[in-house]
Amino acid sequence: MADLNELSEKLSAIKLEIEGELKGIENFKSAFEYRKTLMDSKTGKIGLLMREMGKIPGELRADYGKKVNEIRTWAQGEVDALEKKFKELEMQKRYESEKIDVTLPAKMRAIGKLHPNTQVRNQLVDIFGSMGFDIFEGNEIETDFYNFTALNIPKDHPARDMQDTFYLSPDFLLRTQTSSGQIHVMEAQKPPIKIISPGKVFRSDDDATHSPMFSQMEGLVVDKGITLCDLKGMLDLFVQKIFGEGVTTRLRPSYFPFTEPSVEVDVSCFQCHGAGCKLCKGTGWIEVLGAGVVNKKVLEDCGIDSDVYSGIAFGIGIERIAMLKYGINNIKLLFESDLRVLDQIDD
Ligand code: PHE
Repeated sequence: MADLNELSEKLSAIKLEIEGELKGIENFKSAFEYRKTLMDSKTGKIGLLMREMGKIPGELRADYGKKVNEIRTWAQGEVDALEKKFKELEMQKRYESEKIDVTLPAKMRAIGKLHPNTQVRNQLVDIFGSMGFDIFEGNEIETDFYNFTALNIPKDHPARDMQDTFYLSPDFLLRTQTSSGQIHVMEAQKPPIKIISPGKVFRSDDDATHSPMFSQMEGLVVDKGITLCDLKGMLDLFVQKIFGEGVTTRLRPSYFPFTEPSVEVDVSCFQCHGAGCKLCKGTGWIEVLGAGVVNKKVLEDCGIDSDVYSGIAFGIGIERIAMLKYGINNIKLLFESDLRVLDQIDD
């Protein structure tokens, strides 16, 4: 068996070999792998030395063991150092690549807005919702009966000419007014009734302030002791919330077959406050909606006792409110989806 000198030489040679191999290690993973290779008890340079310990003659074993331990400790220290070095380098690289420049301006994101019509409709729903109104969703396709006859507009009645109608067949049509919903509600529900019904309506009408399709919001209240005063009170609150504090309403006599008396509701001009301007055409007042006390005949035909109950109804043009509120002079601007227009309205 080899003597100690021979062993020492062998160990020095191994150490030299290891030194050479360590130089070739270029990253953390190879350092990690190299440690395993080195220590493998069957094939590793250090692992084998440890294994051979048993074959060393007794008197040499302690010295041999000491030397092998030295080289093992040294090799482990070297690999530790390499691992540490590469780990730091790799972390540093990662920090560099993941560096966040907090001074960079944020990416601008285009944020969508609700359409002005939707904004106004939502405002109306909120206002009347806070007064305790429920929402009723009517039908856009109606029968002649619900759109006209039940609203006290029989065939050949001149009032049919007030609303140029798109007929789908002799019996079916595109509703010309959300008032048709009043009948559905009164047929289905007994008083007290307190509903609003927003939705699309259709008339063969086309100019700067009229469009073949537009939106209305119907209101209907039926209960004991409902009068025109209730209507005025609700509408005063409504115009103040939509157009601002201090505005008020005035009622002018009008005619709708399904309300008696009928009124046209004006709002005091929220731009000039009565002094007279272009918006109110110098009158101080702007017409905003039609309304009235529900015609007793309409109540009776729906099976509601008109001696016990009375009702009020109103119909608001949503585009009309949007145009007044946002200073839009042509209703078409609300249907052309031109972002230059729509972008300006965010209420
Ligand atoms: N439906 C009427 C119109 O479109 C408005 C209205 C509704 C009038 C309710 C009175 C009561 O012109």
